[in-house]
Amino acid sequence: MHKVPFGPTYDEMLHPNLLDKDTAKKASSARNDEFDPMNLFNITWKTDGHKVSKIVLPKALTGVDANIVVMLGKYYPSGSHKVGPAYSTLMEGCVDSEIIPGEHTILGPSTGNFGIGVSYICNLMQFDSIVIMPDNMSKERYDRIKHYGAKLDLTPGTESDVILTLERTHEMQKNPKYRALAQFELMPNYRFHRHVTGHSAVEAVEGIGNGRIACFASAPGSAGTLAAGDHIKTVFPEAKIAALEPYECSTLTDGGRGQHRIEGIGDKMCTLIHNVLTTDFIALIKDEDSVRGLKVIQDGHDVLKEQGVTQDEIACMKDLFGVSGICNIVGAIKMAKHLNLGPEDNIVTVATDGFDRYDSVLEDLESRELEIGDHVMKRWFRDIFMRADTNHITDVRGEKAKNHLFDQKERDWLKFDYPKSYLDQMKSMDFWHDEYEKVHAYNEKIREKRGKVIK
Ligand SMILES: Cc1ncc(COP(=O)(O)O)c(C=O)c1O
Repeated sequence: MHKVPFGPTYDEMLHPNLLDKDTAKKASSARNDEFDPMNLFNITWKTDGHKVSKIVLPKALTGVDANIVVMLGKYYPSGSHKVGPAYSTLMEGCVDSEIIPGEHTILGPSTGNFGIGVSYICNLMQFDSIVIMPDNMSKERYDRIKHYGAKLDLTPGTESDVILTLERTHEMQKNPKYRALAQFELMPNYRFHRHVTGHSAVEAVEGIGNGRIACFASAPGSAGTLAAGDHIKTVFPEAKIAALEPYECSTLTDGGRGQHRIEGIGDKMCTLIHNVLTTDFIALIKDEDSVRGLKVIQDGHDVLKEQGVTQDEIACMKDLFGVSGICNIVGAIKMAKHLNLGPEDNIVTVATDGFDRYDSVLEDLESRELEIGDHVMKRWFRDIFMRADTNHITDVRGEKAKNHLFDQKERDWLKFDYPKSYLDQMKSMDFWHDEYEKVHAYNEKIREKRGKVIK
């Protein structure tokens, strides 16, 4: 019989200061040992228990008047906020007795960070796990997953790479021994982000500009993070939600599917948990801009300084972002221009992870470019950040655009045996509100289970 260490409730992930003193103290010292299960209580946007980890980008970098606030996922245990939905999905499964310790092996379909989160959480909660992911992601991702003790099941990295991991997951799930933390399909991912990320985003802009959120921009992989927008809109009804896609893989915009270099996003589908009703705009971002932009922030110190970014700001930004974080920043700049936002307005976006898993991506960039001197980085700085334009932004607020997104979802999910009636329910906000409301019941159930032996 296993004693599963039960972690925080949804409310405690949002407000770690709700934890009792002893738990908070143990969680704090667990930061020195990532394999200490008390790290479950560090699954939060708040590293010090109170304030959301974030950076307000220097305007010398963004070139726009609006304040671009980036929430930082790298401080989560395992190095990315994807550990939040991984924990939430496993925890709900345990609470509902659908996942039984000692009996079930956990599957994690992923492009990397969710897989890292799954392997990490399974390590802390004593489950065997298998991460199913494409074979063309950054080397650092596979190393981390193995470090946390999961097995890897790699599918070919082709045009439809993520779809292949999904197909493989659905195939393996036929074996009753396996339980999938199916991030593209299961609502704990939605609940975690609407509750924890959404409320944290609202807190993140306190004292900045007019204290409101004019736009939330995020590039969907599973589209979990985008669910923060559903909460943001309840607080600031004027807020616009922008989904960012790789230019090379414009599935939501026009059904396009292609290979691209922004790991973790552009997964070539409209995910089941994507509430398309609240998505207002879709903007396309070029993958090479995201990789080159990362190079400028990591290594272009002289260039950044010359362009007016201070030494302190340069030092602060180093290591905070991965490739998708730069994509989100470029998307936020585009949206600030598109929406004509001024100095009082705030745009919130997210850096899912930090630089620690992208050394090999910049090495690859260096091997593809003839030379990357300061003159090249200066050009990249100007073209990518300063001259980010408002091209390739689609307004998807109208009925026709929504139907197009619903159709994409049907094409992607009917084949996995989800009934049309279920997909139709998702066309009403009631569906999403009802799903969200379950947070409160899970809060209660987790409190009851904590400290008990789970059979
Ligand atoms: C690096 C990175 N960026 C962005 C995302 C997208 O986040 P979400 O799945 O919440 O849409 C992911 C998801 O795995 C990711 O790994």
